[in-house]
Amino acid sequence: MNKKYHIITYGCQMNEHDSENLAGMLEALDYEHTDSPEQADVVVMNTCSVREHADKRFFGMLGQFKKRKMKDPEFIICVCGCMPQQPHIVQEIKESFHWVDIVFGTQTIAEFPNLLRERVETGKKQFCILANNTEISEEKNPKRMHPHKALVNITYGCNNFCTYCIVPYTRGREKSRTLREVKQEVISLVHDGVKEVMLLGQNVNSFKDAEGNNFAALIRALEEVEGLERIRFMTSHPKDLSDELIDCFRNGKKLCHNIHLPVQSGSDVVLKRMNRHYNRERYMEIVKKLRAACPDITISTDIIVGFPGETEENFQDTLSLVREVEYDSAFTFIYSPRQGTPAAKFEDQIPEKVKHDRFDRLVEAVNQCSMKKNAEYMDRIVDVMVDGPSKNDPSAWSGRTDTFKLVNFTSEVPLTAGEIVPVRITETKTFSLDGEKVTK
Ligand code: SAH
Ligand code: SF4
Ligand code: F3S
Repeated sequence: MNKKYHIITYGCQMNEHDSENLAGMLEALDYEHTDSPEQADVVVMNTCSVREHADKRFFGMLGQFKKRKMKDPEFIICVCGCMPQQPHIVQEIKESFHWVDIVFGTQTIAEFPNLLRERVETGKKQFCILANNTEISEEKNPKRMHPHKALVNITYGCNNFCTYCIVPYTRGREKSRTLREVKQEVISLVHDGVKEVMLLGQNVNSFKDAEGNNFAALIRALEEVEGLERIRFMTSHPKDLSDELIDCFRNGKKLCHNIHLPVQSGSDVVLKRMNRHYNRERYMEIVKKLRAACPDITISTDIIVGFPGETEENFQDTLSLVREVEYDSAFTFIYSPRQGTPAAKFEDQIPEKVKHDRFDRLVEAVNQCSMKKNAEYMDRIVDVMVDGPSKNDPSAWSGRTDTFKLVNFTSEVPLTAGEIVPVRITETKTFSLDGEKVTK
């Protein structure tokens, strides 16, 4: 009987894609996937360290595996992702979590099969972490989560050093793949049945390959791929959002009318202390240009409250920005100090109570916007790409519009993932739309 593996993934889509690659490697070694960590011979924890909450969940989960390990020494526990990229975390694992077998980082993923083989053959613990690899090792055989849509890395790492953020320390300096290599990968994905690609990077619009191709050139090149229906990307940084990219929204046929454009704060003072390199006026100018080029574009964002030194007045600026932009949705975060980042050492940290109070008010403002934007879809007929049966109601279907709205809908005929069908919207909610499939 084949040995079994289970992967637990925290964090962003870059980690999700890394987990797809890890699953591909394990299956190449004849391991079989299991949904249950209890039945797995190998458990991989692909970690995130963007906020303290993520750290805590990880250490809690690691503690749970101790019991099993004490009974069954052949059970293998692997830790990878962003947490072990920080030396103090590796130290902590060595000192307090001695039952962990294999530890590797974001830049040594390709080493995983060797590390696992070594551990199995010699019984010795394996640690393999690199601070900043110059080689890009893209695994070519991931086990993808969906048949019809694929995650595609285009850049690795980040050079921006926003003062609150750990990512530049865990993912290393920014590196771009080449346009040619990315296009080739997309062509072969389409050949395998993929209809939609999500281009991934911490700051995709600073993509620049060795031949001088920029992100807009990459989008234009992918527009030409026959059989590809939709192109998405995330995340883009406002400071690098060019007019050339806005033209791609105006002229493209496949580039989806949706953008995730993290603003972080509506206050110029806070933006400066965050090292974001744009101000509110510049951000609003981009929003207006995007809407002029592409009137139905939907916009989502990331916002942090309680950044060190944020006054009530600064926070009010964030609230007013949310209302001015009218975001379709937003990920909202309470500032969490990260060891090794400049902001963690800023003296004017905000009390927890104040942070939570601002967070609640922000969420209310964001939800009001989401509800209002979704209400505009009432009675409209929209094209939905089917993802599969709806999670909450297996007799209904679920999918996304080009503008990334989640739609749950009924259909009298069975559907397949990746199909694009017309759906009439019959009810609008804060986070989703309901509808019924129609015949056009
Ligand atoms: N590269 C992406 C974001 C990566 S992290 C970008 O720049 O847009 C995702 C989000 O987590 C960030 O946009 C930010 O809003 C939030 N975040 C990052 N560090 C944080 C911290 N220390 N505390 C709270 N939120 C944080
Ligand atoms: Fe972090 Fe800023 Fe880089 Fe995004 S752009 S990953 S927030 S440092
Ligand atoms: Fe987390 Fe690393 Fe992504 S810190 S958000 S998994 S880049």
